[in-house]
Amino acid sequence: MAVVSELRGGVFSPDGQRQSRPTKIDFQEISKSFRSGLNRTTVLDRVNLKIPEGEFVSLLGESGCGKTTLLRIAAGLISPSRGKLAIDGKPISKPTREMGFVFQQPVLLEWRNVLENLLLPIEIFGLSAEEYRPKARELLQLMGLAHTENHYPVQLSGGMQQRVAIARALIMNPSILFMDEPFGALDAITREQMHTELLRIWSMSGATALFITHDIGEAVYLSDRVVVLSSRPGRVKKTFDIDLPRPRVPEHRFDDRFVSLCKDMKHCMTQ
Ligand SMILES: Nc1ncnc2c1ncn2[C@@H]1O[C@H](COP(=O)(O)OP(=O)(O)OP(=O)(O)O)[C@@H](O)[C@H]1O
Ligand SMILES: [Mg+2]
Repeated sequence: MAVVSELRGGVFSPDGQRQSRPTKIDFQEISKSFRSGLNRTTVLDRVNLKIPEGEFVSLLGESGCGKTTLLRIAAGLISPSRGKLAIDGKPISKPTREMGFVFQQPVLLEWRNVLENLLLPIEIFGLSAEEYRPKARELLQLMGLAHTENHYPVQLSGGMQQRVAIARALIMNPSILFMDEPFGALDAITREQMHTELLRIWSMSGATALFITHDIGEAVYLSDRVVVLSSRPGRVKKTFDIDLPRPRVPEHRFDDRFVSLCKDMKHCMTQ
């Protein structure tokens, strides 16, 4: 199991060397400005970033620096004002079935039970819910939620709801998983449990993950690479390679290397 995670999820081979993989998401000189009345505000300024296939990358930066805007550009939800975005070498203009999304709030439909919520993307894309039901049950099992398939969202804790949202994002086997502060609303203990669950399921999926957070420890624990953005306009300030072994375990949070990466990132963010 450990070997599988290492090979499919991580970008480091067992001997610690970074593997070279094709670029999945390619931000080329991306700038974005918004107009409000007569004013134009530049939110992102010439962001260059290549995310290799299967890598887990976190974007870290203070509120308003353009993290969500960058993710929305990557997902084809909005266009950049300048620059190019390519996925698998091709431009995109709208979200595709290849993409899974998890947001800060789980956004579950309260009148549908857990299993029905999981199958929502299948229905939206006009596929057979019947066909995907076994997969939905398998994902629930993986997320430790098998007993909740007939429950309604109101019967679940916040952490459980967010697990359903993650399972729903994975139902169509996405090759890219976009997550915008998915654990921001959870307490610290639930959050740490969610980190373990997320890494387990992500390593099995082989998906490329773009994760947004304000939390340095969360970024270090989860990622292969952390990209620190400057405050507005957002630019890539520094990229940190996270050379901690996978699979990650909670004890890693006390490693000297973990602590020193957190310190360096904190320093970079406050500079
Ligand atoms: N559609 C829009 N029209 C005008 N301004 C926008 C629009 N979308 C975002 N902005 C502005 O762009 C800036 C960056 O927003 P964004 O949501 O990307 O920041 P963020 O880094 O995700 O912040 P947070 O950490 O608080 O979520 C903000 O000042 C926001 O008000
Ligand atoms: Mg945001």
